[in-house]
Amino acid sequence: MKTPVKIAVSGAAGQISYSLLFRLIGGDLLGPDQPISLSLLEVPQALVHLEGVVMEIQDCASPLLHEITCHSHPEAAFDQADLVFLVGAFPRGPGMERRDLLEVNAGIFSVQGRALNAAAKRGVKVLVVGNPANTNAMIAQRNAPDLPPENFSAMTRLDHNRAVSLLANRCRQPIGEVQGVIIWGNHSTTQYPDLHHATVNGRPALDEVGRDWYEQEFIGAVQNRGAEVIRIRGKSSAASGANAALDHMRDWILGTPEGRWVSMAVCGDGSYGIEPGLMFSYPVESRDGEWSIVQGLDIDAFSEAQIRASEAEIKLERDMVRRLMP
Ligand code: NAD
Ligand code: LMR
Repeated sequence: MKTPVKIAVSGAAGQISYSLLFRLIGGDLLGPDQPISLSLLEVPQALVHLEGVVMEIQDCASPLLHEITCHSHPEAAFDQADLVFLVGAFPRGPGMERRDLLEVNAGIFSVQGRALNAAAKRGVKVLVVGNPANTNAMIAQRNAPDLPPENFSAMTRLDHNRAVSLLANRCRQPIGEVQGVIIWGNHSTTQYPDLHHATVNGRPALDEVGRDWYEQEFIGAVQNRGAEVIRIRGKSSAASGANAALDHMRDWILGTPEGRWVSMAVCGDGSYGIEPGLMFSYPVESRDGEWSIVQGLDIDAFSEAQIRASEAEIKLERDMVRRLMP
């Protein structure tokens, strides 16, 4: 039998985890022959509720589940963890921007960054889902000085998937025919869904959909999709968020297909002129468990302005919580 992979999930009693955990024990991340141990983190007052979730997990009788433990102390939850999903954070409600959550959520990620630094495996892969995801991921990374910055990432895969799906629908083509979509920047309304390098059925996406639809409908639709879900569903996206989290981790661990990229917010190295150290969403390829930013893409003046606007917002958020970044 393979050695179990230890996966820690924070916010384990919340709505995203209620989808994520069941897909993890179903083998949707690492395949049907990789056992996993689940280490679940919650605030003390939600542990009772988490017990009910654990009962349901046990009732699935998953042959992949090696062990399951529940914790209210981050260090205990992250002890020797291979993979960490940082989901636990407050979601926004109608009329809020994600950065309005910074005040309540940022502190969570400094504590958890320190706990990862102390307890997780040195090769741990960390995905921050809790909003505002980019800045929270930056806080966690900066509080974990003994771990490589490359181990930290934030989720813009849901935006990427939304963009792919909207484009495929517009062109009445299967999802698999869409390639080369990019989400640049922040998981917020300043994110820039870029179709300049995208193709549908091998043809340039912008030729297929036209500049007007791209600029006047598509960009805003992707940027505001999360708020639309909240408006219509009454709660923030959950199953699609869990699905994106799995996509993000799976592609990072198992690799992206040759010549294809995905969008991931990662600790920037100055690529495309973005300030190094910001957690910025880029087109990313992954090989042997290591991501790299796709280089050399042409950026026109329109794209440059959008990318800069998102960078400015991330800097603003970073400045709001500098006190949490050693
Ligand atoms: P939820 O309120 O249903 O669940 C959050 C859970 O986190 C709760 O059970 C809460 O008790 C727990 N929690 C709070 N503080 C914690 C802490 N310090 N340690 C451990 N657990 C803690 O929320 P949800 O719908 O599951 O969403 C979680 C977060 O993910 C929100 O911030 C939401 O905005 C964000 N989100 C991000 C994306 C993305 O694309 N990046 C997508 C969807 C949701
Ligand atoms: C999303 O994009 O659906 C999430 O970030 C939730 C939100 O607040 O929009």
